[in-house]
Amino acid sequence: MACCHDYAPSGGGDTAFSIDSSSITFGRGVLAEVGDHARALGIGRIALITDPRLARSEHLGIALGSLAAAGVDVALYDAVRVEPTDESFLAASLFATESAADGFLSLGGGSVMDTTKAANLYSTHPAELLTYVDAPIGGGQPIPGPLKPHIACPTTAGTGSECTGIAIFDLLAMKSKTGIVSRHLRPTRALIDPNATATLPEGVLAASALDVLSHALEPYTARPYSRREAPQRPSLRPMSQGANPWSDLGCREALTILGRYFERAVSDANDDEAREQLMWAATLAGIAFGNAGCHAPHGMSYSVSGLVRDFRPAGYPEEAPIIPHGMSVIVNAPSVFRFTAAACPDRHLSGAEWLGADLGGAGEEDAGEVLAGRLMELMRVARIPNGLSGVGYTQEDLRALTEGAFPQRRLLANAPLEIDRDRLSELYRSAMSYW
Ligand SMILES: NC(=O)c1ccc[n+]([C@@H]2O[C@H](COP(=O)([O-])OP(=O)(O)OC[C@H]3O[C@@H](n4cnc5c(N)ncnc54)[C@H](O)[C@@H]3O)[C@@H](O)[C@H]2O)c1
Ligand SMILES: [Fe+2]
Repeated sequence: MACCHDYAPSGGGDTAFSIDSSSITFGRGVLAEVGDHARALGIGRIALITDPRLARSEHLGIALGSLAAAGVDVALYDAVRVEPTDESFLAASLFATESAADGFLSLGGGSVMDTTKAANLYSTHPAELLTYVDAPIGGGQPIPGPLKPHIACPTTAGTGSECTGIAIFDLLAMKSKTGIVSRHLRPTRALIDPNATATLPEGVLAASALDVLSHALEPYTARPYSRREAPQRPSLRPMSQGANPWSDLGCREALTILGRYFERAVSDANDDEAREQLMWAATLAGIAFGNAGCHAPHGMSYSVSGLVRDFRPAGYPEEAPIIPHGMSVIVNAPSVFRFTAAACPDRHLSGAEWLGADLGGAGEEDAGEVLAGRLMELMRVARIPNGLSGVGYTQEDLRALTEGAFPQRRLLANAPLEIDRDRLSELYRSAMSYW
């Protein structure tokens, strides 16, 4: 079957794609530059948002020292919930409103950066929480205007949230994640310091590395932008615009880097070189999916994490059960790529090869199996549980998983093949157990 990614114009499809990113500074030690960047952005008082563990880390000391040296006042919030919820977004927004800050600094992983985006949004343009949340779950209202400057300093490798206009949270009443998506949410600056990952526990390193991997594979195999309906107005072109030549570049390079360094990074949390490469792959993949969108593994993850019962993974806070984001995504991935390979087998084969698979004369009809096989190998190296059953689900949960994820149109409609309710249920069924 011919590949659907030739980007040839298709009647009614879009004929252009856009590229956006935060302004990025990447390198060892750049966290210590944060004070000067804050000053340059005209920030006199900054709301520094982090989580309880990072509040006790050496990284907070580096950021505070740099801000003090630059004469920037700090209002500190260290109560971010890991895997944030609507309640925790609101608590941080209340702090932001009371802080009287004129800019934001997020120091942490995706949980902290997403919470900071929400705190910036609701303190700048106050509204009911669901107002700006993706339709049909929320009101889908556009954010009315720019937010305050936000300097994002990631400490995991990584969600790429420092490069995206996306904030994800668990909507407790629905037992599913959902998100707010807008160019206004994108951080102004991203200071990406591989040294900040030196203290990552093995479990967090592994889950976030598999998030990176899916952030590269999903945009690469997403529906091409040229097959998405053209927007009513150019300014409404979505960030989840589909695969495009720009996202292809980032995905290809990120997957190649992961092929070289993934196993080293997750096998030895002290391998500085491998973690630095992982962080660069996370950056490239973050820019790529921030300009193309992910698809079914992420869409399915929203109910996998929202319906958690009693799973408590090593390396994460123990107060509440969670299925960490990267884990909730990757348990779906082999099942999804076995299905989507029919749309673009060459892309699935290339992805597997860049990730280090031996293609050994495999043909297009083997593409799904080859990629799924390589993903399962990497999941096992990273000690990821064996599919949905490994994180506590059974066949009895198929209905709830399907109903929770089906409304996530932004992601499911970005897959290269149509996913209706029955298909979605089938994808969950095939993700129960892999080995
Ligand atoms: N907005 C986006 O574009 C986007 C993309 C992907 C994921 N996400 C979201 O990001 C969240 C997951 O983020 P994450 O995987 O970065 O992890 P996280 O922010 O949830 O952190 C996980 C744990 O690791 C700890 N930690 C983080 N960095 C550390 C360090 N350097 N040293 C020691 N401990 C450290 C944290 O304190 C926390 O306990 C999810 O809520 C997910 O939905 C958002
Ligand atoms: Fe992700």
